[in-house]
Amino acid sequence: MSLLPICIYPDPVLRQKAERVKNIDNGIQRLIDDMVETMHNAPGIGLAANQVGRPLSVLVIDIQRDESESGLIVLINPEMVSARGETTFEEGCLSVPEYFASVVRHEEVVVRGLDRRGEKIEIAAEGLLAIALQHEMDHLEGKLFIDRISPIARDIFKRRWKKKSKEEREETLLCLD
Ligand code: NI
Repeated sequence: MSLLPICIYPDPVLRQKAERVKNIDNGIQRLIDDMVETMHNAPGIGLAANQVGRPLSVLVIDIQRDESESGLIVLINPEMVSARGETTFEEGCLSVPEYFASVVRHEEVVVRGLDRRGEKIEIAAEGLLAIALQHEMDHLEGKLFIDRISPIARDIFKRRWKKKSKEEREETLLCLD
């Protein structure tokens, strides 16, 4: 397993719609292992494949804080089955470091997809897991949480982001492999 570099906004790969995985081969298994390691190392509670420069429909989530009790979820080709309610949560993203903002999302979701063995799975989630699923599935659509904040908050974000040094941004702009 190896740590993968995380693509940082405004890397164009973050705006790409992820392709469906047709064949869960060794390359995909390797990608999943590397994504899990990268997520835990960051540390983060979720990671979508676009964030490591691979626009494929793969996401990993682990909302457990306690490492002895892994709540690892691997989802391939996820689809939203149903969603209800509304909840607001202060979100952040490994691809938009050092920025947090309130995002309104569904309170409960049912999502289906494939696990890493290619078996169909369905997850009914609420609370933080429901939020993480929606956040990561947005990534697979080329969407970021900053697209879901108020115009005023986005304005403040953009101004603050511009202040970050040009060199810093150039360094992380491209990480397509
Ligand atoms: Ni994110």
